[in-house]
Amino acid sequence: MAAQGNPFTPAQASASGKVILFGEHAVVYGQPALAVPVAQVQATAVVSALSPAQAPERLEAGIWIEARDLRRRYQLSEASPNDPLAAAIRLTLARYPSSAVPASAPPFALALSSTIPIGSGLGSGAAVCTAAVRALGAFLGLSLSSAEVSGLVYETEKLLHGTPSGIDNTVVTFACPVYFVKGQTNETLRVGAPFTVVIGDTGIPALTKESVADVRRLWEEDIPHWEKVFDEVGDLARRAREAIERGNASYLGELMNLNHALLQTMTVSSPDLDRLVHVARSTGALGAKLSGGGRGGNMIALVKPERAEIIANALRTVGARNTIITTVQ
Ligand code: PMV
Repeated sequence: MAAQGNPFTPAQASASGKVILFGEHAVVYGQPALAVPVAQVQATAVVSALSPAQAPERLEAGIWIEARDLRRRYQLSEASPNDPLAAAIRLTLARYPSSAVPASAPPFALALSSTIPIGSGLGSGAAVCTAAVRALGAFLGLSLSSAEVSGLVYETEKLLHGTPSGIDNTVVTFACPVYFVKGQTNETLRVGAPFTVVIGDTGIPALTKESVADVRRLWEEDIPHWEKVFDEVGDLARRAREAIERGNASYLGELMNLNHALLQTMTVSSPDLDRLVHVARSTGALGAKLSGGGRGGNMIALVKPERAEIIANALRTVGARNTIITTVQ
């Protein structure tokens, strides 16, 4: 990796959130999944050099992380080994061609802010780390491809999720709709006709690591049964890809409903998610399902554009903490 550009001038980068349209959980077992960026929510990182007076220390003690939304400011040298942001910084520094880094770099601060709710399935962890890697890469004068950034962010996802499939870092770093299969080359999802999705937040944070571990326990107890379920989910994701390519929204909605039913059997839905899914369908959505790790976080509803506001209002009326209307194109 060559260093280039004008290193050590202030650098900024942003990354969008994401939603999974089809295939969560089964994707961990090699099935395809579809995900799209959500530009309405963003994480932003700014890296700027500190003067020796601001940071007299060298090496990791001279590198400050400011997580503005969490109101935390700490030195890299003090970060916990499981801190994904610290891992993102260390992994990016390791790409610098000189072994003298960070000794050759000035002390710096990496400030982060994000409008993506944490633990809600909107890709907060991947977006924060993508913004951090890109901003620090630019500060150091590194030219990192999207595939390289995705690979670095995948390493940080392991700290958050345990055994991530890699879908979050892929859709967030490539910032386009993706058809994702673990361990395979990233494929862009072609969207035949734009479609509208309402995202409803239960307001209940949930750890993807836990729901993924619970599904693994179920799978270990009856591998043939769960492999069949995951195959069915994979089949839905393949059919959904075709429906999206052909612009067939009503069929896509039916597939969402079927995917939600299979996620319920995996025990990753919740009464709150089921209520929002039910209300979306009964107010005219073409289909609805939970999105992401489940148990809390977000659900999605496929809607006709003219019904989007009505369905979003209905979701808030029955308890959605927040709604986002997004067009996939
Ligand atoms: O909660 P999220 O959106 O980060 O969901 C992750 C999707 C899972 O399939 C549940 C896990 C994974 O690593 O793919």
